Amino acid sequence: MALNFVLPSATAPATAVTASPATSARPAATATTSTSSQTATLGAVAAVAGLAMRKRNRSKISRNFSLQMPALPAMPFMVPPKKTVVITGASSGLGLAAAKALAEQGWQVVMACRDFQKAEKAAKEAGMDPENYQVMHCDLASKQSVRNFVQTFRTQYQSLDALVCNAAVYFPNAHKEGVFLPGLFPGGGPRWSAEGHEMSFAANYLGHFLLCNLLLEDLKKSAPRGTARCVILGTVTATVNGSELGGMIPPLAHVGNFEGLEQGMKAPVTMLDGGAFDGAKAYKDSKVCDVMLMKELHRRFHKETGIVFTSLYPGCIAETGLFREHYPVFQNLFPAFHKTVTKAYVSQEEAGKRLAAVVADDRYGTSGSYYSWEGEAGTGGGGGQDAVSNTDKDFDWFMNYGSFRTLSIDEIGGEAGDDQRCSGSVFLLARWDKDGSRVGERE
Ligand SMILES: NC(=O)c1ccc[n+]([C@@H]2O[C@H](COP(=O)([O-])OP(=O)(O)OC[C@H]3O[C@@H](n4cnc5c(N)ncnc54)[C@H](OP(=O)(O)O)[C@@H]3O)[C@@H](O)[C@H]2O)c1
Repeated sequence: MALNFVLPSATAPATAVTASPATSARPAATATTSTSSQTATLGAVAAVAGLAMRKRNRSKISRNFSLQMPALPAMPFMVPPKKTVVITGASSGLGLAAAKALAEQGWQVVMACRDFQKAEKAAKEAGMDPENYQVMHCDLASKQSVRNFVQTFRTQYQSLDALVCNAAVYFPNAHKEGVFLPGLFPGGGPRWSAEGHEMSFAANYLGHFLLCNLLLEDLKKSAPRGTARCVILGTVTATVNGSELGGMIPPLAHVGNFEGLEQGMKAPVTMLDGGAFDGAKAYKDSKVCDVMLMKELHRRFHKETGIVFTSLYPGCIAETGLFREHYPVFQNLFPAFHKTVTKAYVSQEEAGKRLAAVVADDRYGTSGSYYSWEGEAGTGGGGGQDAVSNTDKDFDWFMNYGSFRTLSIDEIGGEAGDDQRCSGSVFLLARWDKDGSRVGERE
């Protein structure tokens, strides 16, 4: 079947979904397990069936029919379905913490990671129960790898309850080599994906764009159960640029009119707005696109499919691997600064719980929403006060809104606020797909 890289049209007929809760979202490996209470239930079923048949066929069947009943095989529909979530970049930081939190809540977590061994080791060290997770290879910087991942996933899982687009790279100093104090910054210039796109754009956005596109069908199967969610990580710079401190630190996100996208986003073009390469800005721009993608998916598919599309800012998780390319002084001072001065710091564990809540908690189930936390800023205090019941929206000294707020789709501002631009970016990718020589491809 020709598989288009373009997001399907909102007007396309919805796929008829008949997946029964009995068979969906359960790894094949657990399909034949049964618990002692289920065994008891099966016994009762067998006894009732035996009595009924004896009544109807009294003459034909011997009196001890029920004793002669062959043992019934375990019935998969008796097993409560386990919900399945795919989390990209679950080998460290937020993704790992959320994977652990969801696994502990009984979810089957598929950790979609580029470094299989690192992810396995991380899961073990985090104390995750091997029954509740599986690592699958997925490198978002390679379209083929994303497609392979989806194929492998489908051989083992029948449906998908939640997709979390979490993986990201950040090269804040890649453009600074030799600017001053040579050797202080790693430099190195832009990194490139398998298809030759600037790496932040490719891994943070393009790979997720393709993954969402492909796994939409799998999410649709869970939608009738009311569980299907697609969560795409944003950041403060993507939504409230110019309104909160985090969104005011240069370089500001700016995707312009996607001049770089128009030009193909291949060397020497690195930036979505066609400007000069800046590693920090490339990250911020890619997160703008992630939030735009969430908005566009919601606009096109929420009503038709029932899938809930959301995005979030989990707070400043200052100690994750995201900052691995920053210079060492920054890596030490950044967490301390946010812990003591801005109070925007949040631990990986707490941030993981926040992301897990957006995946699993009914209170975070409004499609098109952007859930935004601060660390200890505002009133919540380290997540101590439950986020959704915290309605304080005042600014604090650092221009952070209160510790939690929900932005409805219309309140999402900054670079991702422009609806025309959102559909424009998808439109541009569609054109690329048609000529076949740029981002898009057909199978
Ligand atoms: N840290 C924060 O303060 C903060 C704030 C706002 C939003 N966020 C968002 O939170 C998310 C997680 O970031 P984090 O702070 O937890 O950073 P992290 O610890 O560096 O985690 C990033 C994950 O992405 C994976 N990854 C990178 N490139 C990939 C690729 N090509 N294919 C597959 N996986 C890839 C990494 O894999 P490896 O382990 O193999 O490198 C890692 O598992 C990101 O979307 C980030 O934008 C973070």
